[in-house]
Amino acid sequence: MKRPLRPDGRVRVVPSLLSADPGALRRDLDRSGARWASLDVMDGHFVPNLTYGPSALKALRSGACRLDAHLMVSDPVRYAPLFAEAGADWVVFHLEACPRPRPLLRALRARGTGAGLAIKPKTPVSALLPFLADLDLALVMTVEPGFGGQAFMPKMLSKVRVLRRELDRRGLKAWLQVDGGIDERTAPAAASAGADSLVAGSAVFGARDPAAAARRIEKAAQKALKKS
Ligand code: DX5
Repeated sequence: MKRPLRPDGRVRVVPSLLSADPGALRRDLDRSGARWASLDVMDGHFVPNLTYGPSALKALRSGACRLDAHLMVSDPVRYAPLFAEAGADWVVFHLEACPRPRPLLRALRARGTGAGLAIKPKTPVSALLPFLADLDLALVMTVEPGFGGQAFMPKMLSKVRVLRRELDRRGLKAWLQVDGGIDERTAPAAASAGADSLVAGSAVFGARDPAAAARRIEKAAQKALKKS
């Protein structure tokens, strides 16, 4: 198994397959040219939408593209190992569904899978701070999870700034990911706040040329970083 990518100071745009053609996920993933893509796993309970199982992730695995499984599920203790076994490079689950996440985070890392923790918009960033040392990825949702195409919530950037400050102060190497409403207009603000992994669904797969769209978003983010 490939080791998950480590943060290297460069901002990555991570296409979210939720906005891809569900009947041609593999084709759209290849068309996006992504080196890292996100699979939004929804159980119809934690969020009012239902999407993929571990077999979908298994079918999408390839040598070229790393995959994170973003589990928007009420029982991550049950499902996280299944996505790790299916070959996810990171498994990201919600703190709201697992208030004592350390055992699961450590179990994922022990098997060589990147361990990630996500917080919804209403969850304060302070809730995430005690677990930073156990993370390979921290995810700040910039929309209410469940659906693509929603408006970016700029108020969430204060959480990103707090996390960036704390990760840097403690010398911790975890990706700082944002997810929801990311496009060429919002990516610069997210990168300037300190995010280095930007999940984008509709802005990538809604474009005529998804790979070019992802590159434009990444370029806009990198340009903002140079300025900040
Ligand atoms: C929402 C998902 C996001 C969403 C992003 O619950 O986690 O990944 O697909 O889609 P856009 O980029 O369209 O907001």
